[in-house]
Amino acid sequence: MSDPRPILELRDITKHFGPVHALDRVSFSLAAAEIVGLVGDNGAGKSTLVKLMSGALQPDGGTIQFEGQDVTLRSPLEARALGIETVYQDLAVVPHMDVEANLFLGREVTGSRWWNRWLLNKPAMRAQARQHIASLQVGLKSVRQPVGLLSGGQRQSVAVARAISWGRKVVIMDEPTAALGVRESRGVLDLIKRVKERGIAVVLVSHNIPHVFEVTDRIFVMRHGRPAGDLRTAEAHMNEVLGLITGVPVSTSAL
Ligand SMILES: Nc1ncnc2c1ncn2[C@@H]1O[C@H](COP(=O)(O)OP(=O)(O)OP(=O)(O)O)[C@@H](O)[C@H]1O
Ligand SMILES: [Mg+2]
Repeated sequence: MSDPRPILELRDITKHFGPVHALDRVSFSLAAAEIVGLVGDNGAGKSTLVKLMSGALQPDGGTIQFEGQDVTLRSPLEARALGIETVYQDLAVVPHMDVEANLFLGREVTGSRWWNRWLLNKPAMRAQARQHIASLQVGLKSVRQPVGLLSGGQRQSVAVARAISWGRKVVIMDEPTAALGVRESRGVLDLIKRVKERGIAVVLVSHNIPHVFEVTDRIFVMRHGRPAGDLRTAEAHMNEVLGLITGVPVSTSAL
């Protein structure tokens, strides 16, 4: 990596939900333009970690640094202001709004002249929306379709397109291909690779280990709210990662 300094660094993060220790002293760092896979069994703490990085939850202990500065991410809006965009596992799209409106939620494009600065620049929005959606190849007929009428996979693609369009520094995706078919998953994986070319760092949470191996530079394994492994993808074996996930060592010779 040309710039090994972390863009985002979490140190000794803990998070409880009542008696549940969702995260117990987790340290995690992400370099600029790095793609890190975050893997672990159900309940390992992946989504909780994602929500702490995106400002949706606050830690009980530990520190978060962004570009070398201590930060407190009090809301997703604050994280977005820093250039961190997130696709949540429990999707946040507005069903009664159309695809275009969902893509531009909270940041409507305005004209450049003083007289239309306060008006929405609808044609520009539509053109951009079409471009983003087209690159995802989700087979949408129109960006005017209400999101509520789309399939689960198409909705997921809209959420991915939105995060990728707006993420300036970091894009975090929690299971972005879980509801997607083969072709649509391919679209998301290709987009992740292209996002890296723009110098943007990506955190990819996925249970699909082959997908993780295909696009990531590094794999961070969580188990019972604790870090269980941090491997360079190029040097890792799938069985090794599966062993770290389950806590049962798997011999690489069994491959
Ligand atoms: N809002 C919440 N209230 C109470 N407990 C929670 C909450 N969110 C998460 N937990 C608990 O924290 C632990 C970690 O959950 P988390 O959602 O981070 O797991 P995960 O690794 O994302 O799992 P999955 O692969 O199933 O998505 C689990 O035991 C879960 O039950
Ligand atoms: Mg999760």
